[in-house]
Amino acid sequence: MKFREIKNNVFYCGLNDRDRRIFDELIPLEHGTTYNSYLVKGSEKVAIIDTMYPPKAEEYLENLDENGITHVDYIIANHGEQDHSGTIPKLLEKYPEAMVVTNAICKGNIMEMLLVPEEKIMVVKNNDELSLGDKTLRFILAPGVHWPDTMFTHIVEDNLLCTCDFLGAHYTFEDIFCPDNCEVEHSAKRYYAEIMMPFRNLCKKYTKQIQEMKPDMILPSHGPIYKNPDFILNLYEDWTADEGKNLVLLPYVSMYNSTEEMIDYISQKLIEKGVKTQVFDIVTGDLGDLAMGLVDATTIVLGSSMVLAGPHPMAVNVAYLANILKPKAKFATFVGSYGWGGNLFGMLSQMLSGLKVDAIEPVLVKGKPKKEDFEKLDILIDEIYNRHKSLNLV
Ligand code: FEO
Repeated sequence: MKFREIKNNVFYCGLNDRDRRIFDELIPLEHGTTYNSYLVKGSEKVAIIDTMYPPKAEEYLENLDENGITHVDYIIANHGEQDHSGTIPKLLEKYPEAMVVTNAICKGNIMEMLLVPEEKIMVVKNNDELSLGDKTLRFILAPGVHWPDTMFTHIVEDNLLCTCDFLGAHYTFEDIFCPDNCEVEHSAKRYYAEIMMPFRNLCKKYTKQIQEMKPDMILPSHGPIYKNPDFILNLYEDWTADEGKNLVLLPYVSMYNSTEEMIDYISQKLIEKGVKTQVFDIVTGDLGDLAMGLVDATTIVLGSSMVLAGPHPMAVNVAYLANILKPKAKFATFVGSYGWGGNLFGMLSQMLSGLKVDAIEPVLVKGKPKKEDFEKLDILIDEIYNRHKSLNLV
């Protein structure tokens, strides 16, 4: 495959992985993903920024041959995770003259995880520059979006910013440039929700920093290149905002429809009051959709049946996931149904203990919800509505 030129001797040498259906063995991929790698030919030196996921290494190395790349001076590791740095050892075999350039934390990671020899690594600090002749690479440390070792590389003269995983999308493409369409927005939001949302405040900080830098293009490590950086930066500004939207997320698992009946009732009544809802069937739903709902939701209502004497394990899984994704939700509550007894909400409350949410009185029902239970649900619904109103969301 012939490398596509992005601008002035900066080339895309990454690969699509259309067949990949799940990432981190957790979140389904709707459109596969890409592993982006960039080749920068300066007048004196050649650099590769990020490498390749190891199962794709053979194709990647063949492409370098096909494109006549016989010499590489620097391999820039923006982050140590294997989907980007995993092919560094093979590149060092192919180009023994090359030095790996990275920050101190990433150095430790690639030595431990990829067994890169210490003498092959050059360490850079924040704002250090590396000359390739007529091009300069400047390194911007960005710990926390998403690993402590993450850094960006600025190709200074061309004003191209390689942002590592930050601002990326699991989305394959033919044209390397982002079409600014809803499909890419959807993939980028899913990606933000799953990977970046736990670091929302840092995402906000680096979004602002990049806005001030005004790069001509943003070159992420997954998904298409943003020729119009405002497209993705404006989205990140929205997703990282402190205020949630007028949205209640209602994930539920229901064994005999009683919990589902309560969730549907809450959703319907809230809609009638002008509050948007997203009902999510935990058993059949896609966790990526749930994560996307968590980006915007101001309130979470988790519904669960009782299994033996505790919550349904699928509800526990969702509570745990929500807890580690650290959404911006301000309010949370539970509804559920039991057959003979137990503690339905205790463990779920514990699982959400990492969230900074105000609890709303939950509703627990024996068997099917009855008139008095719907009255309790009406109180819960009013409470959610009033809290959204107090935030001027409705
Ligand atoms: Fe953190 Fe795409 O790897």
